[in-house]
Amino acid sequence: MMDDKIRIDPWGSSQSTDYSSIIEQFGLNSMDGLDLPSPSRLHRRGIIFAHRGLENILQERKKGNPFGVLTGLMPSGQMHLGHSMVIDQVKWFQQQGGDVTIAVADLESNATRGVSLEQGRKIATEEYVANYAALGLDPDKTTVYFQSERNIVQRMGFQLGKRTNLSELEAIYGFDGATNLAHIQAPLVQAGDILHPQLDDYGGLRPIVVPVGVDQDPHLRLTRGLASKTNWFNLKDAKMGLQVGVSIQNENSHALGVDSNGRVDKQRQSEVFTKIVNAISNLGFSDIVSNPKHGTVNIPSATKGDKLSINMALLRLEREMGGMGLLAPSSTYHRFAVGMTGEKMSSSKPKTTLFLSDDLASVEKKIKKSFSGGQSTLEEHRRIGGNPDIDVAYQYMMYFFEEDDNYLAEINQGYRSGKILAGEMKQLCIERATEWLSDLKEKRDSTAHEVQRFFE
Ligand code: TRP
Repeated sequence: MMDDKIRIDPWGSSQSTDYSSIIEQFGLNSMDGLDLPSPSRLHRRGIIFAHRGLENILQERKKGNPFGVLTGLMPSGQMHLGHSMVIDQVKWFQQQGGDVTIAVADLESNATRGVSLEQGRKIATEEYVANYAALGLDPDKTTVYFQSERNIVQRMGFQLGKRTNLSELEAIYGFDGATNLAHIQAPLVQAGDILHPQLDDYGGLRPIVVPVGVDQDPHLRLTRGLASKTNWFNLKDAKMGLQVGVSIQNENSHALGVDSNGRVDKQRQSEVFTKIVNAISNLGFSDIVSNPKHGTVNIPSATKGDKLSINMALLRLEREMGGMGLLAPSSTYHRFAVGMTGEKMSSSKPKTTLFLSDDLASVEKKIKKSFSGGQSTLEEHRRIGGNPDIDVAYQYMMYFFEEDDNYLAEINQGYRSGKILAGEMKQLCIERATEWLSDLKEKRDSTAHEVQRFFE
């Protein structure tokens, strides 16, 4: 069994595509059964296949309450199709009413790839944000910042570091004694990226969703764990309804009524429990059972659907009492488009992907040479048919270029039956890609004047 374990490595070059095992092994939730408002192409086609806590986002959206979206970019190479897929998702959340924050990981890029901060700034602006504008992100509802300039994310990285240790990082990332310390700091700063937008100075307490490729889940697991370890009040399922547990820690014991010598100050403790009960009864619950002796408060009539609002009330109370009050982030996970050569898509291997600024001649050349799901002879192809599931030309239309589901189903069917040949599929893809990239180039020109506004 141990041998079957999938390792997910955000820095690695291999990629598992066994998505159902990934869901099971890492405890992700499948997208089945979620009621998404106007699902995007990526949702409809099952490319976004799993999530953690997406219900929180959907619930707040439905109520008209604020929620945020966060993503980050590593300013090193050029922006390619894989990167644009994340922006598609950010845009969808933005259209659903989310505010958007984007971290430029210039510190990480500097430490792990030797890109100077100045270079990082230039790449982020000219290569990434210019394309974000062209892809349709709204500059008025998007804030892009640099890690090196937001002290709070660095400070949070430091503070949160106290809630983990090398063994945990080893278990999550497979680090060992030889691991460069920059690789240990980067995920902590990234946790700061993910968690800071909910602070009062950056939009206040609200659920934040991070759309990522599934290789980034280790970061989310770490960050969710860090957030919940700082929480003063934990909410969990009880035999009946929900139960709040008080978590006494070094930094909160005084506020929670425990003296430094461990003695409980009954008076102060009872004030704390009164505050908890008040916070919950303000939400409209009446049958609340407070048990200071056990450190618990029970809400027998509360259901699953009440979790978020109770949790947020407790986090607000924690903040009033001096804590950070951090809500664990939500996340969604997408599958990866195969690299054009059949290996993993990577900006350091230009043949594996299309860059958003590739000229049309190289686009055509890369697609013509791309990995095909066709048979080796014409006769065989007509007889057995092609395999669209591994055919780069088809896959890229599905992931990136073709909006029309019916047309896509038609060419899928045509390919499988052998009616459409591999070369013909490539030609269709070349046409669509050319159109898409030319259109994007035009938009880059017409939105160039907006780029600066993303930083304001
Ligand atoms: N580490 C990410 C990358 O390699 C970039 C990043 C930084 C990020 N902060 C983030 C991604 C926060 C998602 C959320 O591309």
